Amino acid sequence: MNNSAKERLIFALDVDDFHQAQHWVKTLKDNVGVFKIGKQLFTRCGPEVVRMVIDQGAEVFLDLKYHDIPNTVAKAAVEATRLGVRIFNVHALGGAEMMRTAVDQVGAYCHEVGCSRPQMLAVTILTSSDLATLTEIGIERSVDEMVVRLARLAQASGFDGVVASPKEAALIHAVCGEGFAIVTPGVRPAFAAADDQKRIMTPADAIAAGATALVIGRPISAAADPLAAAGQILAEISRALEG
Ligand code: C5P
Repeated sequence: MNNSAKERLIFALDVDDFHQAQHWVKTLKDNVGVFKIGKQLFTRCGPEVVRMVIDQGAEVFLDLKYHDIPNTVAKAAVEATRLGVRIFNVHALGGAEMMRTAVDQVGAYCHEVGCSRPQMLAVTILTSSDLATLTEIGIERSVDEMVVRLARLAQASGFDGVVASPKEAALIHAVCGEGFAIVTPGVRPAFAAADDQKRIMTPADAIAAGATALVIGRPISAAADPLAAAGQILAEISRALEG
């Protein structure tokens, strides 16, 4: 199985307990390269859970979506880097200065200690937001317009990519080009249920639309054989990369 496909499969560790998280990492690490730790698990277990994943030989996407004044976000970003995460994210709505400061301070830290810089991703507009949400907070533009605007801003600020719905991947790929990462949740292989995801795509379609990595939770965790389900998704990613 090719490694590049494995690094593109990110499993959402949507559990609230250290031992369950450890169980999933041990079960899936042969087929999953990266484990996503979000606000719930991190708030419950803290940095210990990040270290546990790394100790198992896997990588971490720390999904805490930082959004604060530039200095505070940059300091948090340096701490995420010190923890050894492979990927972390911020809200692009925090603006260019916030993103640039984080890029600069993380870059300086990595230079100082001789580590490679984590992949820094920006969330554009949350997929739970629609036109009404934007209007409510005084943004009188369409979701697509804002997604493109914020993806461009993230790129111009030195960010490596964005987290986006697979339905937005083609649009972002067209404006930001090759080499700009597009990490997409909302992906459902043909064998899985849609769950509460409304705007879904198969792994192959998401990759064809420009997604560079996929965040997948329940299609793997709810499968009768989770490792085999992850293996099937990996094979689909590999075929899509070759095709
Ligand atoms: O189980 P499922 O595959 O739906 O999990 C997807 C993961 O991606 C969850 O952790 C969810 O919070 C996250 N996510 C999402 N949709 C977004 C952003 C993040 O499903 N727009």
